[in-house]
Amino acid sequence: MGKQPGVLRLRRLTTPVALAIGVMLGMLLSRLFPWTATTPAWRSNHIRPKSHQQSRQPIQLPTLDQRARILNLLTSLSPHYTKQCTRNAQPLYVQQTLERYAPLIGHKTPSSGSWFSKFFADEDDLRVGRRDLVPSDHKYFFAINLYNSFDIIPDLFATLFRVAAILGYHNVFVSIYENGSTDQTKALLRIFDALTRSVGLRITIRTSMRRRGAFNHRIEYLAEVRNAAFVPLHELRDAENEYFDTIVFMNDILPCVDDLLELIYQSRKNNAGITCAADYMYHEEIGSPVFYDNWVARDINGTALENAPFERIFHHEDSSQRFQRHLPIQVQSCWNGIAILDPAPFYSPPHVRFRMARITEGECSASECSLICNDYWEAGYGRIMMVPRVKLAYDRKVFDIIHPPRRNLTAIRGYARMGGLPDDPRTDPQDRAWFGPHDRLFTEEESEPLTFVPGPEHVWCWGWDGAGDLEGPDVDPIWERMSNKSMHSDAILVRHDRSIPGL
Ligand SMILES: *[C@@H]1O[C@H](CO)[C@@H](O)[C@H](O)[C@H]1NC(C)=O
Ligand SMILES: *[C@@H]1O[C@H](CO)[C@@H](O)[C@H](O)[C@H]1NC(C)=O
Ligand SMILES: *[C@@H]1O[C@H](CO)[C@@H](O)[C@H](O)[C@H]1NC(C)=O
Ligand SMILES: *[C@@H]1O[C@H](CO)[C@@H](O)[C@H](O)[C@H]1NC(C)=O
Repeated sequence: MGKQPGVLRLRRLTTPVALAIGVMLGMLLSRLFPWTATTPAWRSNHIRPKSHQQSRQPIQLPTLDQRARILNLLTSLSPHYTKQCTRNAQPLYVQQTLERYAPLIGHKTPSSGSWFSKFFADEDDLRVGRRDLVPSDHKYFFAINLYNSFDIIPDLFATLFRVAAILGYHNVFVSIYENGSTDQTKALLRIFDALTRSVGLRITIRTSMRRRGAFNHRIEYLAEVRNAAFVPLHELRDAENEYFDTIVFMNDILPCVDDLLELIYQSRKNNAGITCAADYMYHEEIGSPVFYDNWVARDINGTALENAPFERIFHHEDSSQRFQRHLPIQVQSCWNGIAILDPAPFYSPPHVRFRMARITEGECSASECSLICNDYWEAGYGRIMMVPRVKLAYDRKVFDIIHPPRRNLTAIRGYARMGGLPDDPRTDPQDRAWFGPHDRLFTEEESEPLTFVPGPEHVWCWGWDGAGDLEGPDVDPIWERMSNKSMHSDAILVRHDRSIPGL
């Protein structure tokens, strides 16, 4: 597996992934449903706070009750994957997530009886001393590439819908680019397009029958497919002077709602240029899930991550230690299924975009995702990090393994509490076998800002020139020298403050 990352990567992109993925802060969601009683306070997305013109006719949005019925319809169309994520989450975890992600809430809080105030109805001490609960107007651009994704679309939309309900519908724009699917992806997308619009969540779905044809180079083609999902970002800036504060880029993978919230949280907390999750694939010989996207992922020494079990993924010793404790890690490059991007380098020079290597200039023919990481370093946005807590799967088998049902540690292992929080898995010596992410209590270290260091001098690059028939890297790997800029402390300055007010 480690020898052929490109092959795996292809399989991932072209298979209609039978995704088994994620659900939600069960509690958070269950609190979303009672909104039917609280009609007045939802802030409509078409009210643009700033001065720029609203050229279209204002559209009357449905009432909250009507929206709730659409949500019910949406979520009942997605019967399997995303229902389970945090169904049996331990109460302490639920409480932690509610507190942790409250500052991300982007809609106006109704004065009483709302789902939000119900979070804290019995927790007066939590409410005291909290930020003033001013709704956030941080804007999020979701860019998603789909190809033969019939199976995951209902879940994808259910998750988007829930995340947008938390971030604020008016703060979210979804851009989907679908190319050349041969299943009923296009038809299904049309249904969800209409449903999504009907509740006031902005969405652009572009479908294409364009084939690789004109593009000789595989990476050039993949880069163009990714860039296509970004077209509305530039259109909205040009036409409406609308700028986004955070980009969420997703492959055809389905995270749980708390996965997305944690990535966004870490990205903003650390003012990171790029923030990614950790993705896993089943390794038949080893008989367990292994880290997957090692074609792109590089530790902060420039060394590739391994398709290996948990404790052997990182060569860089400090990173390995942190990884095994599920703590955020600075890396040179990563993608791993979902990446949160700071849009600044897209908006202003050097106007970063996905691209293939400049082969004539001697650049190693890496993945378009590695190259964009290098370009972020070059642009001075080298704060790139991985969030091991957020674990993603591409199929049901791995999903089930990395999302084990919660079990009582005391009962299964004769676990003796050694301090810390009750039932804290991190104090369990067998923690490695217990890597379900949706129950793991947050530790203080997970909320501490990362200390970023300048980039490595050399990065391991396994090129794919695509000259032959090989569906994967076909050039001998090299240690490629990075630019002088990326090794300078200027590369890791905070240039665009996206941090969460009050944190
Ligand atoms: C569509 O794009 C994906 C990458 O997102 C690619 O793997 C696939 O081959 C493309 N489909 C066609 C028909 O070109
Ligand atoms: C760190 O990078 C250098 C190349 O720059 C490499 O030779 C060395 O093996 C790497 N160390 C680790 C622990 O990966
Ligand atoms: C876990 O199991 C032990 C032994 O069966 C029991 O005493 C304890 O109350 C359980 N803890 C929880 C949180 O359910
Ligand atoms: C980068 O730094 C090295 C060593 O400090 C120097 O020799 C080289 O000329 C620099 N390259 C550029 C493009 O500035």
